[in-house]
Amino acid sequence: MSLAVRAPLLVFLISLSSRMGLSRYVEDVEATDGLYSLLGLDQKRDSEDYIFRRPLRCLDMLATDGYFSFAASRPQLACAAFIIAEPSEVISLELFDVNIDCSAGDFIKIFDGWVLKGEKFPSSRDHQLPMHQRYTDYCSSPGSGASSRSSQNVAMIFFRIHSPDSGFTLAVKKLHNPFPCNIMSQSPEGSFTMVMPHQRRNCSFSIIYPVEIRLTELGLGQAKSNELMLQRQVWSGCSGSGDFVELLGGNGVDTSKMFPVADLCFSTNGLAQMKIGCDNSVVRVVSSGNYINRVSFQYRLLEHNELPKTQENSLDNFCSVE
Ligand SMILES: *[C@@H]1O[C@H](CO)[C@@H](O)[C@H](O)[C@H]1NC(C)=O
Repeated sequence: MSLAVRAPLLVFLISLSSRMGLSRYVEDVEATDGLYSLLGLDQKRDSEDYIFRRPLRCLDMLATDGYFSFAASRPQLACAAFIIAEPSEVISLELFDVNIDCSAGDFIKIFDGWVLKGEKFPSSRDHQLPMHQRYTDYCSSPGSGASSRSSQNVAMIFFRIHSPDSGFTLAVKKLHNPFPCNIMSQSPEGSFTMVMPHQRRNCSFSIIYPVEIRLTELGLGQAKSNELMLQRQVWSGCSGSGDFVELLGGNGVDTSKMFPVADLCFSTNGLAQMKIGCDNSVVRVVSSGNYINRVSFQYRLLEHNELPKTQENSLDNFCSVE
């Protein structure tokens, strides 16, 4: 993953966060800080036993293993750090040296996913844990509440600290995930193959940029038996088939609130190509568990002149598809 593509994600998050009011409390966050710290990391990675450490900011994005220490210089009431790993990784988070006053209203909460503009990724309908189990609250259980492992390549922490000089250290460690399901792309361009091996599960690949998506391969319904194969031919339409791929577009991160751009339910090669001029574009695989489903796709950022002109008018729900 190159730097050039990571930096825009942080800028994007900061602009989203400022829309949701987070950065009112964070005058000192600049997008360029993220760029410099990532730059620093790539250089330091060369020495193998180097443990990356840096201060954690009140609004931050972390894309690397390391130790990130927060020290409140003044009351910091609405802080959040977005953590992202590679698609085939999950994230282990651990809190150390926690010095906060829960009884005074301080808190540190870890969330299994991302929350942006009040919407959650992965959507509650696609996550295997019920919503309350996706939050780990340090204050309600100082022992077990100090660590958490994400179910996908994104996680976040929220924290509020009233008293200056209070703080904590967050350790981030990325772990390999052999069966990635829900994924947030770090980059506005790339390619990916999602495979669902006989699992009754729905998985989304989310790209929080306006992009053109090109499906290069779609393998649905490799039946366990001929009987299942026959059944498939009788069904008509995607929703009846139980196994299909949908492209979604929308301006939030909750896939259940996005609108369907296209449904695909027949195996083919080199098929759909679509420009989705939304803040978020998603490839979602719906799997019945009867088959091995597989979808490959490529995506690239839409150029400025490919974006719908009206998008600048801040019509919140506007989003175009070609
Ligand atoms: C997957 O999505 C389909 C259609 O959106 C839904 O009918 C089905 O119940 C979902 N499966 C699971 C395991 O959530």
